[in-house]
Amino acid sequence: MFNIAIDGPSGAGKSTVARKVAQSLGFVYVDTGAMYRAIGVHVMRCGLPTDDEQAVLSVLFDAKIELTYVNGEQRVLLNGEDVSVDIRLPEASMAASNVSAIPKVREYLFDLQKNMAAAKDCIMDGRDIGTVVLPEAQVKIFLTASAEERAKRRYIELQQRGTPVDYDELLAEIRQRDYNDSHRTTAPLKKAEDAVEIDSTNYSIDEIVAMILKIAEERR
Ligand code: DC
Repeated sequence: MFNIAIDGPSGAGKSTVARKVAQSLGFVYVDTGAMYRAIGVHVMRCGLPTDDEQAVLSVLFDAKIELTYVNGEQRVLLNGEDVSVDIRLPEASMAASNVSAIPKVREYLFDLQKNMAAAKDCIMDGRDIGTVVLPEAQVKIFLTASAEERAKRRYIELQQRGTPVDYDELLAEIRQRDYNDSHRTTAPLKKAEDAVEIDSTNYSIDEIVAMILKIAEERR
């Protein structure tokens, strides 16, 4: 199978880029952040704090996570229920960041991710795909952008969706998540040694997609 790993901090444009690359190559796009988000939603629905390891572990194995594809769009199922909308709510972001710091949660999702990549040509995005999940991926990309740029993009996106928020709050939350994601002990956000780093602040989405397609073409 041909696997493309794409890692980087939240808001760098990974999912938009990955979706377009997948479309262009006829690959499956696997959004691993959605899996952590679904676990976060599950824990919240159980009425438990997502930053309490014991509490999370007490309900982790009751959460059956599946990714399905409807007209090429990824849908996330939690115990059979489509939670694709719920996992994008603001509280699900911090919940996902919290549960993702727990090694057993990562182990639980690791097999699922590995199996998906073994079964199909795919582009998988996350934080530890090139380093831990698919260290043998043929292409590895590390996509970054400044925290300010990422907060600005998210601000515009939320405004367009009709749910405006305070820019400074967004920036503070992005910084907090960056810190959590890169300082946890298990599989922190880190560039794989053999990954190609692209700073998305300086390029359009289509330019980045073209760069990745070129690298994939060379290695196929
Ligand atoms: O990419 P995202 O914002 O949907 O990810 C949600 C959270 O899940 C984020 O705080 C980091 C975590 N995550 C992770 O630890 N490892 C991954 N492979 C993907 C996401």
